[in-house]
Amino acid sequence: MPGDSKPPRAAALPVRPILLALPFLSLLLLLLYVYSTSSSSTTATVAISTSSSSTTFTPSPPSPHIRMRRSRYGSYDDYLRHQLNKTLDPRLRRVWATRDWRRKVSAFARLFASLQNEGLLTNASRALCVGARLGQEVAALRQVGVADAVGIDLAPAPPLVVRGDFHAQPFGNDTFDFEFSNVFDHALYPSRFAAEVQRTLRPGGVVVLHVAVHRRGDKYSANDLLDVQGLFGLFPGCDVVRVSKVDAFGLDTEVILRKKRSPAAQHP
Ligand SMILES: *[C@@H]1O[C@H](CO)[C@@H](O)[C@H](O)[C@H]1NC(C)=O
Ligand SMILES: *[C@@H]1O[C@H](CO)[C@@H](O)[C@H](O)[C@H]1NC(C)=O
Ligand SMILES: *[C@@H]1O[C@H](CO)[C@@H](O)[C@H](O)[C@H]1NC(C)=O
Repeated sequence: MPGDSKPPRAAALPVRPILLALPFLSLLLLLLYVYSTSSSSTTATVAISTSSSSTTFTPSPPSPHIRMRRSRYGSYDDYLRHQLNKTLDPRLRRVWATRDWRRKVSAFARLFASLQNEGLLTNASRALCVGARLGQEVAALRQVGVADAVGIDLAPAPPLVVRGDFHAQPFGNDTFDFEFSNVFDHALYPSRFAAEVQRTLRPGGVVVLHVAVHRRGDKYSANDLLDVQGLFGLFPGCDVVRVSKVDAFGLDTEVILRKKRSPAAQHP
């Protein structure tokens, strides 16, 4: 080719800068490599936390009134497995369904009847029992005339109890007129438990909580409530109706709250 002799010279000049640039290029490649591996490991972490994001909640801020026992669970799945283990324990379920049933349903029915007399609950109330296991409290609500009553628990117990995690209630905002729960001590995220009750209650709706104050719960408890103030603090969108001492199956305090009607205070 005619210009054969020229190109080598023309090419010779650019070669030198390339050679000079080699250390920089390899450094650049090394940096790119390091960056890409670190960013791919970042991506992996994000993917893992995204895949479990439905069960990853912001931890409740430390409270002087609530002692958490979170250290006993390695992960949220661990916690769920541990809670389900009690709920599904065949021996316990047999007791709850037989020996326990009549005694608890009639005790709960007395409680709900007195709340009806006070006007805190009516036959027309839409009612939810949070952490209801086999649904003794739901049966009691229906018995006293509250027909639209249902429970949630990690394991369903049809027809009274549907599957639902109290950290992420399977209901829309402003759904219930009345909620009852005696499992607050099982909440791994107490503020989330409270926020969900507050979210699903209608403005003006009432929640009745049976809790143990300053008593150690059982081995399934995830928190210890040291002071009832700790509970009020978790329900900024509610007014306190009253706090009473009760003797309710190992729980000693009844807290009744009412969701504020003012729209500004509905969803703090
Ligand atoms: C569940 O409970 C049984 C006893 O009822 C026990 O043997 C088992 O180790 C428990 N499993 C977990 C994951 O806690
Ligand atoms: C509510 O329902 C119960 C049971 O059906 C009934 O005995 C009671 O009279 C009802 N209360 C009102 C105020 O209608
Ligand atoms: C439901 O309530 C939550 C918190 O109270 C709020 O963040 C959310 O926007 C509400 N959702 C709807 C659909 O109104």
